[in-house]
Amino acid sequence: MGLHIWAIGAGYVGLVSGACMARLGHRVHVMDVNVDRIAMLQAGGCPLHEEGLPELLAEQRAAGRLSFHDHLPDSLADVDAVVLGVGTPQHPITGRADLTYLDAAFRDLLPRLGPDTVVITKSTVPVGTAERLAAWMARARPDLEGHTASNPEFLREGTAVADFLRPDRVVGGARTARGREVLQTLYAPMEAQGVRVFLTDTKAAELSKYASNAFLAAKIAFANDVAALAESLGADAGPALEAMGMDSRIGPQFLRPGPGYGGSCFPKDTAAMAAVGQDSGTVQYIVEAAIRGNHKAQERVAGRVADLLGPDVKGKKIAVLGLAFKPGTDDARDAPVLTIAPRWIAAGATVVGCDPAAAQTVAHLVPGLHIAPTAWDAVEGADAVVLMTEWPDYARLAPSALRARMAPHAVAADLRRAWDKNSLLAAGFDRVYRLGDGTI
Ligand code: UDX
Ligand code: ADP
Repeated sequence: MGLHIWAIGAGYVGLVSGACMARLGHRVHVMDVNVDRIAMLQAGGCPLHEEGLPELLAEQRAAGRLSFHDHLPDSLADVDAVVLGVGTPQHPITGRADLTYLDAAFRDLLPRLGPDTVVITKSTVPVGTAERLAAWMARARPDLEGHTASNPEFLREGTAVADFLRPDRVVGGARTARGREVLQTLYAPMEAQGVRVFLTDTKAAELSKYASNAFLAAKIAFANDVAALAESLGADAGPALEAMGMDSRIGPQFLRPGPGYGGSCFPKDTAAMAAVGQDSGTVQYIVEAAIRGNHKAQERVAGRVADLLGPDVKGKKIAVLGLAFKPGTDDARDAPVLTIAPRWIAAGATVVGCDPAAAQTVAHLVPGLHIAPTAWDAVEGADAVVLMTEWPDYARLAPSALRARMAPHAVAADLRRAWDKNSLLAAGFDRVYRLGDGTI
């Protein structure tokens, strides 16, 4: 028997989780205060660029397990679980998680909860949130037993559906036996398929999310430092990092150097963990270094590309292929291009970007950035081509075809190591920069 669930928030976390929970056989109502978003979903649309999500939404609606709402029902008494998936963005001043949306959603829920309803937080929240919500519940609804739980989500944009349904592990933290039972029932179909469902207390579950994201961010920042070192020593970081990754204690994932990590999670979760460390007198040295290293990596690659163009980038045209923070998404939150392109624009360059999904969003965020409909249009007459985001269509472009459309003395910068070095050199670019490769 499936659970009866309300998922609050129809962003990446709420919508993907809601649809996937329906896929597991539960009856899910997704609610968002954004009426336009809900109207779009009710009309059969999908507000996110996410592989497999439109099909999953259609399938689960047709099966009668998934519906969309712009308000809560008067009572949630017969509901087993309310899953909170609203945004917890970075507070612009404190760097900590901004809990305005989470608290507003919880305030709305409180009077409607039934004795057996478990409030599960899926959004990334500070350690202690499940206990804080339970204490709030005890004050506002002393008739309830304080069923709050934590169930952090580890899905990546672009592969969110697959990450939800086939994760390395599910982490849950419960305060009460009822909370534990609901988490177990929620994920029983996945556990039956061999997925590890790891249940612990709420604080450990909440901490595991920050610690996991910060660790992965630090791993990337480390790879970026190795790339910079390789460049100054005349070595190639690629094979060095590959060799490192073969050690099973290290592993190959998240060791790809690039123009810095971006997205809706790593920058905000590292900032939040560092801020909490400072507040509690337990400085998070590694996390602080990762944050600093990430800013430096972006600054450094911006400088490397400018150097390629000669003493002055003024009047030069730079074509940027890929603007999203990674391929497979239209999300531009904290995308490296947002800090890199303005440096070139401020120095007097004309910067023309293209992206299959995130072009318009980035155009609004970077004043002075021009947008081209295709990579071919972007590179027309350009002095430099920069591979910023490794969309497969851009990674496959033949350097010689690009070169042919560009200005005399054109240069190429591969910030994702997705192009073939020899083809770049053979294509006749005046100078080539391949991130982390000091041998060229
Ligand atoms: C991340 C976490 O992976 C996920 O578990 C969490 O729940 C949300 O945050 P996401 O932000 O969607 O997911 O993307 P991810 O694939 O982790 O990439 C984040 C950033 O790191 C991107 O900018 C990407 O380009 C960069 N990255 C990733 C690298 O530069 N090198 C790598 O080796 C891996
Ligand atoms: P994430 O990427 O972490 O999922 P987003 O910001 O993309 O975060 O999405 C969060 C969603 O939560 C938005 O669609 C927003 O409208 C919705 N939301 C915010 N507050 C509430 C609330 N009180 N009740 C329901 N939905 C909410």
